[in-house]
Amino acid sequence: MTDFTTIKNIEDQFQVATYKKMNIAVERGRGSWIWTSNGEKYLDLYGGHAVCATGHSHPRVVNAIKEQAERVLFYSNLVYSEIRGRVAEKLVSVAPNRLTKAFFCNSGTEANENAMRMARMATGREKIVTFSGSFHGRTADAISATFLGRYRELGRPNVPGHVSAEFGDIESVRSVINDHTAAIMLEPIQSMAGVREADPTFFRELRTLCDDHGIILIFDEVQTGIGRTGNWFFAGSDLADNVEPDIITLAKSLGSGVPVGACLVNENIASHIKENDLGTTFGGGMLAMAAVLATLEAIEQDQMIANARNVESFLRDSLIGKSGIRDILGKGCLLGIEFDGKASEVHAKLLAQQIITGTSSDPSVLRLLPPLCVATDELSHLISALYE
Ligand SMILES: Cc1ncc(COP(=O)(O)O)c(C=O)c1O
Repeated sequence: MTDFTTIKNIEDQFQVATYKKMNIAVERGRGSWIWTSNGEKYLDLYGGHAVCATGHSHPRVVNAIKEQAERVLFYSNLVYSEIRGRVAEKLVSVAPNRLTKAFFCNSGTEANENAMRMARMATGREKIVTFSGSFHGRTADAISATFLGRYRELGRPNVPGHVSAEFGDIESVRSVINDHTAAIMLEPIQSMAGVREADPTFFRELRTLCDDHGIILIFDEVQTGIGRTGNWFFAGSDLADNVEPDIITLAKSLGSGVPVGACLVNENIASHIKENDLGTTFGGGMLAMAAVLATLEAIEQDQMIANARNVESFLRDSLIGKSGIRDILGKGCLLGIEFDGKASEVHAKLLAQQIITGTSSDPSVLRLLPPLCVATDELSHLISALYE
């Protein structure tokens, strides 16, 4: 087995240094665990960056990918494909009622770009409202819709027509919309900003505002979607006061690690999209579709959505009121632990004890985005480490 230093040196020499990496190299993974090049075992409560919802290398997903690869790896949307149709049907069947059609792409940022474009096509307007603390991706339009920290500056010159409102504050939204507003787009829980939540009434007020002014409502569920909050989607659940948006965007968990994104849209939006208006070569490719179908089936088969709710109750019961912990934020398997001190120090100490967690833009909030199948006895490792 190649030693860690050799692996690190090669990456550092030949890859552009864009991420602050943990000093481990992943060799293999199973469920909530990964094994490193040094043969050490780590509990992954960051789920491979909020991606591995079904756990690392879930057998159902692995087998589906293998079988599909043997049959045919890829053909684009120029041909029909049984698996693509079945995935679209399955996604629509678990989505809120209004959302009846799928568009497939390859990542979260691409899903958001296409969602904004569809909103502009459907309304004939250009302006997009997003929120303080929002993160929607790094391609030109999505980064221009991102108002968290300095990300937006990295995308200069920004795409025109983007404005921000205060997350959770309907009066602030009212003050920035006008006859040119095509869409309001939001993460229903702002994960990177530090697991910031809004009151359910905010979603109801947004829906009413959009209906009154002919504005498209987009939920960016790249992190909250596919069971993570203890519901298939945040949209349509009691967390959103049952509000259904016009578009939901998805990526991360959707393919258990195989790159894939999607927009789920209502009939009105779909009716405005004509041949050749949107597209991407790889969107809806067979390998990705096999991964999505197996992901959705594994979540159902292993009752992971109910488990995501258990995870939240278990961690709340175990940690609320404990010394040094101010609050537990978020829902299901998208949680933030708010500390009196610096989350980055807790993150480093947990890593030294072979537990992977995530930080956020809020220095006091540690993020947990574990696989939806993480068991309470696995979480007990975290609890003991935190008590220490
Ligand atoms: C809420 C949200 N939207 C969009 C994105 C962008 O997704 P991707 O990195 O797949 O482009 C992210 C990525 O972290 C995200 O958290």
